[in-house]
Amino acid sequence: MCGIVGYAGQSGNAKEIIIDGLKRLEYRGYDSSGIALISNGKLEVRKRAGRIANLEEMIKDESLNSKMGIGHTRWATHGAPSDINSHPHTNKDGSIAVVHNGILENYVELRQWLIEEHGIEFRSEVDTEVIVHLISIYYDGNLEDAVFKALQRMRGAYAIAAVCQDDPEKIVAFRRNAPLIAGIGRGCNFIASDIPAILRYVKEIYLIENNEMVIVTKDDIKIYDIDRNEVHRDIFHVTWDAESAEKNGYKHFMLKEIHEQPKGLYETLRRRIDDNGMINLDGICLTKEQLENFNRIYIVACGTAYHAGLVGKFAIEKMAQIAVEVEVASEFRYRDPFVDDKTLFIAISQSGETSDTLEALREAKRKGARIISVVNVVGSSVARESDDVFYTWAGPEIAVASTKAYTTQLMSMYIIALYMGITKGTIDKEYYESFMEDLKEIPDKAKKVLQLESMLASLARDLYKNEQIFFIGRGPDAGVSYEGSLKLKEISYINSFAIAAGELKHGTIALIEKDIVVIALATQDKLYEKMLSNIQEVKARGAYVIGMATENNKEIEMQADKVIYIPECRDELTPLLSVIPLQLLAYYIAKERGCDIDKPKNLAKSVTVE
Ligand code: M6R
Repeated sequence: MCGIVGYAGQSGNAKEIIIDGLKRLEYRGYDSSGIALISNGKLEVRKRAGRIANLEEMIKDESLNSKMGIGHTRWATHGAPSDINSHPHTNKDGSIAVVHNGILENYVELRQWLIEEHGIEFRSEVDTEVIVHLISIYYDGNLEDAVFKALQRMRGAYAIAAVCQDDPEKIVAFRRNAPLIAGIGRGCNFIASDIPAILRYVKEIYLIENNEMVIVTKDDIKIYDIDRNEVHRDIFHVTWDAESAEKNGYKHFMLKEIHEQPKGLYETLRRRIDDNGMINLDGICLTKEQLENFNRIYIVACGTAYHAGLVGKFAIEKMAQIAVEVEVASEFRYRDPFVDDKTLFIAISQSGETSDTLEALREAKRKGARIISVVNVVGSSVARESDDVFYTWAGPEIAVASTKAYTTQLMSMYIIALYMGITKGTIDKEYYESFMEDLKEIPDKAKKVLQLESMLASLARDLYKNEQIFFIGRGPDAGVSYEGSLKLKEISYINSFAIAAGELKHGTIALIEKDIVVIALATQDKLYEKMLSNIQEVKARGAYVIGMATENNKEIEMQADKVIYIPECRDELTPLLSVIPLQLLAYYIAKERGCDIDKPKNLAKSVTVE
């Protein structure tokens, strides 16, 4: 995710301090970085795609003596990662620089206005450039006046920081639904998007609220509300060390990311809904004719992303009525699959750099398939090589075990399926609207599921000594079982196995004996009774069964030893909720076993080798 750091002080080493702050945000993921310094009365901007090391290399021989400036790490949203798209962005004469986190929603309209009314020539593809030109137009000798005026025209969720060589003592920053803090130093002050960026220098900060402006000079920090009234804010004393600050107080990134799921789900959905409440695939062209032309869809991915595809298959087949095959990429690429120009190939990948997925995509492309990818990292290889990209809005995922990427991938699959169905005419408006309503409720329901955390932590204490745990489920629940089992084995090293519940009797049930733990997902109303029978089968062999069902289905208590309830929800959507307790359970079991949760042995976050 993008990061902002700003410094106003007395020593001439603003460059070093800002770069150091940016480095402390590296863990969040980024694809480019940049810095704007007021040096010898002039605004100097340097920026580079790639690692911060590239930026450092660029400026290492320049003195750039400066007492103030702003810096940024960018996680691309508008426009690919490149030098030109990196922040800071400057106005026409290079006297004002702006860094920006978040999204300017009405940037297309503002960009048009700036071109037509003010003859602005844009250099980059990013929304941030609109902001700096807007500020520049309103600038009349006072930077905060100009920023206030520009804000009146800006819609979206963002935090910005601006500096100006003609008003060189101050950094002007503003927050609207994106984090921003100001740090109180000695003879210097800071702004930042996140505490870790400045924790080395300050322990006392002001938390800036929504719709507040903060003006930072070396001597002072002033906060104003949107009506320009000065605001008094209590000082927040940071007691965390740098490491726990990066994790926002959570012990592990995995736990932090599990808790970020309601937000990721909300963002992934929100960004695909237009003002009329309809799905807008924003540039992804899928017409009725095209959809009718496809006779097959392949969803190809690896690991957790593959499990998202398994659930996606149910949604797409049901709503768009096109046959879907889901395959692991490492198999697909070597088996000479039947692909032609009537094939839609959907690649799912968090990183967008997984070698197997990329090669499978290339293979499908060579054979004439239309390629759509569902990707989290903007500008990644999978994204670049696809005909169209549907970005998930999970934000950077740091823990090796994928959690929020999975749920946002699921959300994306539902959105794509729903769009296909309504466009092709295989679902009617009534179904579409009620499904949309149910989708919108998911982020809040996910929050509710997170409240099960202490119960799951206590269940983990009962389970952590087991050396085998089975997962069973039917329909979409089978897909979630695979994911729950993968989560458990990869971080706790417990031997875990997931199987479609109806398959048990064809062999695997031979392994079930007294006290073997079976986690049985029974969230599908349609398959509920069948699952109760499967639970009886394993109970009869002595298994200890932990069932999962929606709140209204209580009969399961007669069969299972313990039940995890998730909120009421339509069958198709339960995977978005049912996976969360399994993630938490895996997390707490691994914690009890003393495992290195964020970096499990033998695994890498991005598997770029075959
Ligand atoms: O980056 P990708 O989504 O393409 O990664 C695919 C798998 O390597 C990944 O989902 C892996 O299974 C997870 N890290 C497991 O939690």
